[in-house]
Amino acid sequence: MGNDHKYSLPEKGVNRENLINELEEARSADVGWKEGRSFGLVYRAGDNLDKVIRDVYTHYIHSNALDPKAFPSLKKFETEVVSATANLLNAGENAVGTVTSGGSESQLLAVKSSRDQARSERSKVGNPEIIMPASAHPSLDKAAHYLGVKVVRIPLDEDFKADLDAVRQAINPNTIMLVGSAPAYPHGVVDPIKEMGALAVENNINLHVDASLGGYMLPFMERLGYRIPPFDFRVPGVTSISADLHKYGFAAKGASTGIAVTGCAWKTGRGSATWKASPMYAANAKWGYRARRRFQKQEKKETTFGSGWNACFKKPYIANNQLSLQ
Ligand SMILES: Cc1ncc(COP(=O)(O)O)c(C=O)c1O
Repeated sequence: MGNDHKYSLPEKGVNRENLINELEEARSADVGWKEGRSFGLVYRAGDNLDKVIRDVYTHYIHSNALDPKAFPSLKKFETEVVSATANLLNAGENAVGTVTSGGSESQLLAVKSSRDQARSERSKVGNPEIIMPASAHPSLDKAAHYLGVKVVRIPLDEDFKADLDAVRQAINPNTIMLVGSAPAYPHGVVDPIKEMGALAVENNINLHVDASLGGYMLPFMERLGYRIPPFDFRVPGVTSISADLHKYGFAAKGASTGIAVTGCAWKTGRGSATWKASPMYAANAKWGYRARRRFQKQEKKETTFGSGWNACFKKPYIANNQLSLQ
């Protein structure tokens, strides 16, 4: 057999010590995040928490959230993480949510749910469109590309926020969702969510807030007395929010949460008698092994569940919070 590629599987195995040494050497060229040389990418709350996260992570390396009956502990963790996040974001008791692998997957679910909702509720959605400011994260472009949704990017105003007039002008019968960020990555600025919410209500469309960065930070800043622009489910019109555990939730990569409220397609499954899927679950009744992932009503990721759970419940500021976990 030819060997045209530069690398091939080694003839002989490598012992643990050499393997670890090789890893250490390889990462010596990586950015010095422990020394604060990285603004984003790695979000870290110090050596003590780092140790806890590692311990928790190793407990769940081999677990699989595919089957919550086999791994009820993962189901329990997801339920608790989603419930606590829903509380943190003032989602109310009808909220549903899921733990995802990161901000990109949470955006994907938000776009998918809006697209599916529009397909089922509107007699005609020609070419579904989402409107978002120039600063919104490219993961939303990716989600839209995967899902056949057109992205309309609108300019920012002089404060680097979504230009409301431009949003207003861009809304048309194909619009299914507006997107605002809390905050957006490029400038750290929160979009005018309240005003965007009013436009969403007025036009009967969804408003997704990408709080991947701020979801586990802004609520605590508010409690500390900082003036935080309204961005969560208290704002009428907000239908879904993404909040990343692996950013300022300080969990291990990759973990995020997607929370949605009443009226959003996250709550309903679509499909046929044998196959159903929603952003919350996918199930196929005719597959030999009963595969069903059901996450509705705050009920899903192995190691990251553990560390996300740890981030939510082992930190004092959350432990003191009133949680309703029915
Ligand atoms: C505002 C925002 N949204 C979405 C994402 C994508 O998140 P992830 O890299 O976890 O997929 C990021 C990542 O930095 C972000 O800053």
